[in-house]
Amino acid sequence: AGSPYLRVTPSMLKKMTGRKGKDAWTVLGGKVYNMSPYLPFHPGGQPELLRGAGRDGTRLFGEIHPWVNYEGMLAACLVGIFVAEEEEGS
Ligand code: HEM
Repeated sequence: AGSPYLRVTPSMLKKMTGRKGKDAWTVLGGKVYNMSPYLPFHPGGQPELLRGAGRDGTRLFGEIHPWVNYEGMLAACLVGIFVAEEEEGS
């Protein structure tokens, strides 16, 4: 049996910017989250949250609020795991 998680590559991730009808995905600690449902609730505002969209937001997130429990808050928004391009389909 394979992993239950979607394997998200960098080329998939960079399309998920929250624009052009796409959801806003980010990587935090190697896991990929869909931040779109959380956008209206982010205390720092939507534009700030979208700075992490379509890319690995781990460092940015950690620079701003390392105390925030994103794993708990975004548990229902987990999309999958972030993998290298060449692992796609494996
Ligand atoms: C607050 C930016 C991602 C949850 C803030 C604030 C900023 C910010 C600037 C401060 C707002 C203020 O005090 O006026 C960002 C950026 C993100 C990001 C650039 C991109 C990665 C997230 C994520 C979550 C989150 C993914 C949760 C899943 C929160 C919470 C606060 C906050 C709970 C309030 C924290 C506190 O006051 O202690 N954010 N954020 N943020 N953000 Fe984010």
